[in-house]
Amino acid sequence: MKESKLFSGRTIPLEMHKPKIVQKLSLVPTQRRLQAIKEAGFNTFLLKNTDVFLDMLTDSGVNAMSDRQQGAMMVADDSYAGSQTFTRLESTCQELFGMQHFLPAHQGRACENVLAKVLVKPGSVVITNYHFTTTKAHVELNGGSIVELPIREALHTTSNHPFKGNMDLGRLEAFIDKHGSEKIAFVRMEAGTNLIGGQPFSLENLEGVRKICDTNGVLLILDASLLADNLYFVKRRELQCQDLSVREITRRICDLVDLLYFSGRKLGCARGGGICTGRDDLFTSLRELIPLYEGFLTYGGMSVREMEAMAVGLEETMDEEMINQAPEFIAYMVNEIDKMGIPVVTPPGGLGCHINAKEFVCHIPQSQYPAGALAAALYIVSGVRGMERGTLSEGRDGEGNEVLADLELVRLALPRRVYTLSHVQYTIDRITWLYEHREMIGGLTFVDEPKTLRFFLGRLDALSDWPDLIGAKFESDLARL
Ligand code: F0G
Repeated sequence: MKESKLFSGRTIPLEMHKPKIVQKLSLVPTQRRLQAIKEAGFNTFLLKNTDVFLDMLTDSGVNAMSDRQQGAMMVADDSYAGSQTFTRLESTCQELFGMQHFLPAHQGRACENVLAKVLVKPGSVVITNYHFTTTKAHVELNGGSIVELPIREALHTTSNHPFKGNMDLGRLEAFIDKHGSEKIAFVRMEAGTNLIGGQPFSLENLEGVRKICDTNGVLLILDASLLADNLYFVKRRELQCQDLSVREITRRICDLVDLLYFSGRKLGCARGGGICTGRDDLFTSLRELIPLYEGFLTYGGMSVREMEAMAVGLEETMDEEMINQAPEFIAYMVNEIDKMGIPVVTPPGGLGCHINAKEFVCHIPQSQYPAGALAAALYIVSGVRGMERGTLSEGRDGEGNEVLADLELVRLALPRRVYTLSHVQYTIDRITWLYEHREMIGGLTFVDEPKTLRFFLGRLDALSDWPDLIGAKFESDLARL
C-alpha cells in the first residue's frame, strides 16, 4: 500500500483515482427491504436496484470506467465487418498477452460455450483448480465432466496460504497416470479463483502445471476473467516476481498457456469477452463458431463502444495503482471483520469479501441454504446486496439429489473503484450487528427451482417468520435506518 500509513499508526487503503461522475443511491426503510426480499423470493439476484443501497452482488460489468475509457468510446468505429475498433482491441490483446489470434465474444460464458462445443466430447474430462458455475454447466451440457484438483488449503476457509488457487501438482500427475490423457479435453486454470473466495495461483504453480501438460500432451487453458487480482497477488506475494512489472508478469503467465479466455465484464472493466491463442489450429476450429453464436468476427456480439473501452481498460490493467484498489479495499474489509471474530475467508483474496456462512449461521443445515439465508438477512438489515456462493449455487446431481457445496459463502463483491471507505465501514457495522443476532436467522426452501443454474432465477421462502422477527429487532435497535 502506497504511503497509506497514518500518523495514528493505522493503515488505510488509498484510492489513486477520484470520481468525476456519480450516481445517486437511496437507502429504503427496513420494512420496504423486508417486503422487497419477499418479492424477490429471498434471492438477491431478483432484487430491483431501486431497493438496493450498496450493490455488492458482483464486480461483473459494474466496475467504474476511467475517463480514458469513456473518451475512447466516442471514437468507436461502427461497422459490421472490419472496423478499426476491432483492430485496436486485437492489437492490444496481441501486445499484452503475446498471442497472435483474438476472437471476440459477447461475454465470458459465450467463450466457454464455444470452447466446450469444440473441445468437449461425451465422456471428456476437464481438470481445473476449481470450477466456475457457467464453465461447469457448459462442460456438462456437452457431455463432459469436471474434475477439481486444488491444493488442500483451497478449501480451508481460514488460512495464511498466499496462493490457495494453486493446482495440486501431485494429484494432477496421479490423475493423468491413472486415467491417461486421451479423455482430458483440457486443463483449466482459473485466475483469482472465484468460488473459493477470489484466491490466486502462483506463477510457479502454473509453471508446474505446464510441465505436466507438456509431458502428457494436454492443452492448458487459462480463465483470465479475474486476472487483474491474480496479477496483483503474484506481484505482492511471490518472491520471484517482486522485481517484474505487471506487464512482464502478464506475459510470463500467458506464455505458459495454449489459450486464454476472459469475461471483459471483469477484466478490462467494460462489457464483453474474448478468446486469445497463439495456436493456429485452435484458432481455426474455434473461429467457425463465432459468427454462428456471437456475431461477425470483428465484433462478436459486443458493442464497438464497449470494445474501445475494453482495449483501454486492458491496457490500464497493467498499472499496479489500478489493480491494487480492489484487493486493498477487500483486505481492509476482511481484516476488520476478522478482528471481531466474525468468520470470513482468509487470507483476503480478490473480487470481494467472503463471509463463511457455514460458521456464521452454523445452526442452519446446508440443505436449508445457510449462505442464501445469510445474504437475505444481511440485505434486510443493511440494504447491501451480496451473493450466495454455496449449495444454492450448486445444482442437483443427475438423480436429483442436492449436492452439498464444499463452502457456504456470502460474497460481498467490491466492484473496482466504485465504493468508498465509508460504504465499507457501514457494511462492516451491519455485519457485526447481524453476527450478534445470528441465532435469529433461519433457513430457506425452494418454491420454484429451475433445472439449470438455479441460483439465478430460483425463488425461495423462509422456513419460519425469522425475516419479520429480525427486521423488527433491527428496527427497534437502530430505528431510523
Ligand atoms: N469465469 C469466471 C472466473 C467468472 O467469474 C465468470 C463470471 C465467468 C467466467 C463468466 O463470465 O459473466 O462474462 O459470462 N463471473 C460473474 C460473477 C458472473 O459474478 O462472479 P460472464
